[in-house]
Amino acid sequence: MTSESAITTRQRLSSDFHRPHYHYLPPSNWMNDPNGVIQWNGLYHLFYQHNPNGALWGDMHWGHATSPDLIHWTDVPIAIAPTPGTYDEAGIYSGCMVNNNGQPIIFYTSTRGEHNSIQTQSIAFGSPDLLTWTKHPGNPVISEVPAESGQTRDFRDPFVWKESDAWYLVLGSKIQDVGGAIFLYRSQNLLDWEYLNPLLIGDIKTNGVVWECPNFFKVGDQWVLIISSHLGNATGSVLYFVGSYENYRFTPQYEGVLDYDTLYAPLSFVDEKGRRILYGWLRESRAERELERAGWSGVQSIPRIMSLDEQGRLNMEPVPEIETIRGKHHHFGAQDVESDAVLNVRGLSLDIVAEFVPQAGGQCGLAVACSADGKERLDILYDAASERLSVNKVSSSVGDMLLTNSRDIPHKLVSGESLKLRILLDGSVVEIIANKRTSLTSRVYPLSADHNYIRLLGSQSSVQSLDIWEMSSIWQ
Ligand code: FRU
Repeated sequence: MTSESAITTRQRLSSDFHRPHYHYLPPSNWMNDPNGVIQWNGLYHLFYQHNPNGALWGDMHWGHATSPDLIHWTDVPIAIAPTPGTYDEAGIYSGCMVNNNGQPIIFYTSTRGEHNSIQTQSIAFGSPDLLTWTKHPGNPVISEVPAESGQTRDFRDPFVWKESDAWYLVLGSKIQDVGGAIFLYRSQNLLDWEYLNPLLIGDIKTNGVVWECPNFFKVGDQWVLIISSHLGNATGSVLYFVGSYENYRFTPQYEGVLDYDTLYAPLSFVDEKGRRILYGWLRESRAERELERAGWSGVQSIPRIMSLDEQGRLNMEPVPEIETIRGKHHHFGAQDVESDAVLNVRGLSLDIVAEFVPQAGGQCGLAVACSADGKERLDILYDAASERLSVNKVSSSVGDMLLTNSRDIPHKLVSGESLKLRILLDGSVVEIIANKRTSLTSRVYPLSADHNYIRLLGSQSSVQSLDIWEMSSIWQ
């Protein structure tokens, strides 16, 4: 799609109040995983799994957008499309990009066969502006699933990095009847790959049937492996492991959940400031007929800066660049609010920074996307006794088009620690990060654009501070 028609398409869909205003999504149609994320000569590039012809998954291409600041995006033409009659005719699946001494190279999973069941790994070389891509004549560069996998269908999502002695690549896969698996490869020239061994093997009973979209990187003297754990029924969640890496084997010492709900298939990179930045696909939680009616599906998270805290847990914060599009500011202290009161600020495009001191045995939080009568709303609630954070859609409406968006997850505070919530509300997107370490990204589809009130949940005395900014649209 040319950028001119992209602008027209965006304008046509702009009255849909479920569409976000400050998160990236394509002009229309389906998007899933972020791919090939990189900063190249100062400009940020986001590629993504895209069906250019419909609002449901299928016919995967790599869409492409660029940004000077990780916030404002320009749609540019599709980067890679399937070539009929070849190794990638059934779809260009997820992958990454590397900078090989100034030459941009994309790694992707090429698919063919019935139900995209033949998955191989291919590469494409980029023009200096990353806008034109030429597939390697010798593709695919990896085509055999390691025999120990015991299957040949799930083998995808290359993630490549360089060490002093060689290039390395990991792939998402599984070991039949055992669990998800990540396979490790090595190369000197990025074209010829030698299989080494499994980097890590999972457990089918506890962490998934197939592992997709691996990220493997060093933070200080620790290594972090992020995987998207597919449960075999179109659902899954993102897990991470922190541990040591020796003799081509990874030994986790800590296992955590990167996001508890709709964020999936994240991909990270290091930018020119040296920050490890991660994007994740925010899945929809409404029925397929609603996606087709809307004409679009899928949103990218606001990029998050990743780090490890002293306990070795992954911490994440939206990039500070997001603050440049903050508009009108509303500040509340405990004296400015009443228990369970509606706040005098409204909106579906907000950045909320809330701090609570949970009362023993009490509950506190906020409801967003509330109707004036409070009958429809999304409650974000912390329960001090059970040390759990929940989101719960409260709705008396008959037209509810949600599949589900209730979640109840553990979030322990240490003694004396307050509850700090960062909530990025944007149309139907609700990114919630608690104390930088617990991420619960939800979706909400209010029945009316007027269902944009905010309520305090629980007692005013638990409020330390509430700062709410009305956010500007990134699309002019
Ligand atoms: C994850 C995933 C990847 C695959 C892509 C296909 O959401 O299933 O494993 O490459 O989506 O669109």
